[in-house]
Amino acid sequence: MQAAAREIESLRLQIAHHDYRYFVLDDPEVPDAEYDRLMRRLRQLETEHPALVTPDSPTQRVGGRPLDKFQEVRHLSPMLSLENAFSSDDVRGFDRRIKERLETGDDLMYACEPKMDGLAISILYEGGVLIRAATRGDGITGEDVTQNVRTIRSVPLRLQGVGWPARFEARGEVFMPVDGFRQLNAQAEASGEKTFVNPRNAAAGSLRQLDSRITAARPLEMIFYGLSAEDETGLPQTHSGRLEAMRKWGLRPSAEACTRLGVEEVLRYHDDMATRRSSLPFQIDGVVYKVDRLDLQRQLGFVSRAPRWAVAHKFPAEEELTIVRGVEWQVGRTGALTPVARLEPVFVGGVTVSNATLHNIDELRRKDIRVGDTVIVRRAGDVIPEVVSVVSDRRPPGAQVVEMPECCPVCGSGIERGEGEAVARCSGGLFCQAQVKESLRHFVSRKAMNVDGLGEKLIDQLVDRGLVSSADGLYRLDIEKLADLDRMGEKSAAKVIEALEASKDTTLERFLFALGVRDVGEATARGLANHFGSLGALMEATEEQVQQVRDVGPVVAGHVHAFFAEEHNRQVIQRLVDSGVHWPDVERPEPVSSPLSGKTIVVTGTLSSMSREEAEALVRKLGGVASSSLSSKTDYLVAGEKAGSKLAKAEKLGVDILDEQGFLQLASMQASDLNH
Ligand code: IVH
Repeated sequence: MQAAAREIESLRLQIAHHDYRYFVLDDPEVPDAEYDRLMRRLRQLETEHPALVTPDSPTQRVGGRPLDKFQEVRHLSPMLSLENAFSSDDVRGFDRRIKERLETGDDLMYACEPKMDGLAISILYEGGVLIRAATRGDGITGEDVTQNVRTIRSVPLRLQGVGWPARFEARGEVFMPVDGFRQLNAQAEASGEKTFVNPRNAAAGSLRQLDSRITAARPLEMIFYGLSAEDETGLPQTHSGRLEAMRKWGLRPSAEACTRLGVEEVLRYHDDMATRRSSLPFQIDGVVYKVDRLDLQRQLGFVSRAPRWAVAHKFPAEEELTIVRGVEWQVGRTGALTPVARLEPVFVGGVTVSNATLHNIDELRRKDIRVGDTVIVRRAGDVIPEVVSVVSDRRPPGAQVVEMPECCPVCGSGIERGEGEAVARCSGGLFCQAQVKESLRHFVSRKAMNVDGLGEKLIDQLVDRGLVSSADGLYRLDIEKLADLDRMGEKSAAKVIEALEASKDTTLERFLFALGVRDVGEATARGLANHFGSLGALMEATEEQVQQVRDVGPVVAGHVHAFFAEEHNRQVIQRLVDSGVHWPDVERPEPVSSPLSGKTIVVTGTLSSMSREEAEALVRKLGGVASSSLSSKTDYLVAGEKAGSKLAKAEKLGVDILDEQGFLQLASMQASDLNH
């Protein structure tokens, strides 16, 4: 028994140490497998000796029985709130008032932290052991959520190190990282459950579970930003010093916490965090500044429930409520119809938003957005504003369901929707002015032909006045024609012509991207350029040959082939080239010569050493063409186990048949040749 007790204690210490390395320092010392081994051994010993199980054992994170309700608890000292500042001047005012009160002209040292967008939680530790965790509630009393907070792995059940007060409350924010939130919602959606509107609501919903097994399955984390102790002797006398001490005890403060001298430095911290906001793994709604020295904090004191020595400098909210005034359909470059919500203008994410994309009709139906609805609009970073969800209890009577138009709102052509496709398209092609405008916008865009100064409004005018109807028309413009347009003069017209002239000197991949073939993005354009080397080779390629390009599947190959087969497109390309658009041919490495190079090969049946896809990749790597259809032009059929009709057909057509062994032999001849 004593030996078991000693081993149990040692295991718990080791596990606590590894939790600390992992969750606090973000620097694990041992692989997961080793950690799991320690946990398994501890579980085993505790099962053998149930009397030795204690509540602070790492095996005891998930509680037993679900609760009936949460108990009320009184905080050791009130949990305070913060004054808000919304501008640099607000913050300068805050700094000035403090200096006046302290009767000093010197720059003050501030502790700066992100303002985490989660829930404030206070955790009582006695003798270094987690006793109780509570929500903020009204600041004086909160709800006992101990069972649930215990399941959060970044919260230590027992503190380590030295110097923690015998009895104190550690305070911080429980939140859900954005990745975890997305995964949780994806799971919920897949199983038809309700999704959460944002990570904050997801964190709150997870903490308010009466059954802690549910909470345990949610990706929650905690960051600490302060403490409240009855006896403060021995504690550091700065806020930053206390955070450092808390880190050593295993209570993780924000990795972005730091100190800054003077208000201008503090404002730089704000701007820095504001730029980093959208790339952080968690959501923040601002930054918090606290006077670092505790003696100054005490001198400054409180006004009602907020300290005079701290302020929250808020970022513009990324989500706001507004009303849907209408839904319009926009026609994109490839004819795709996108529903766009016209909104009552609202200030969100730092700009005034009056439109938001609804993506497609399925999305519109799923979110059940109707005209007249109050909706949550979100704009984060530079992302296009979107409607997150409808506030259903604010739906007015008679809110209108949005129907898909029967014909294109721009050109009146029919609407097509391929089977299983989310997107409906206008069938008007280049007859549709919306598609023409969008394809011109794409053609001149930065990553395509990169024509400076040809903005949206200018393109609208060119198309509306019938001056340009396809890309080649751009190169037939002259200063005179351009100077005639609204808001253009000789000077700006000359600039546009100059930019068009400069754009003629381009690369094959840019040109291919600029053509705007459906589903051909930058990466695919690059792949096509590198594979075929010249435009001529690509234009003459069969669909199957296009499919040989890396990452190009049958659908994209189909689009590419169809594009170049279209007479109109060939004419536009010819006219572009005639007007001087040019590029160097792409230099390609000499094709490897191998017994497979230039050969058309079909793989069928099951191979034992690789998948069919891998076999086809190997064929391509060795210069062959991997095809899925067998004909008399096929050079080899590679037949694995259970090869069916293709084997019979190959025999009939007299196509050479290779078994797996034979195929590998041919392939490896290449490998050994290369080595020499
Ligand atoms: S300090 C005396 N620091 O903001 C100061 N609060 O409006 C008390 N919050 O309820 C709070 N991140 O939930 C502080 N780094 C941070 C914070 C933070 C988020 C929340 C907290 C509090 C609210 C105050």
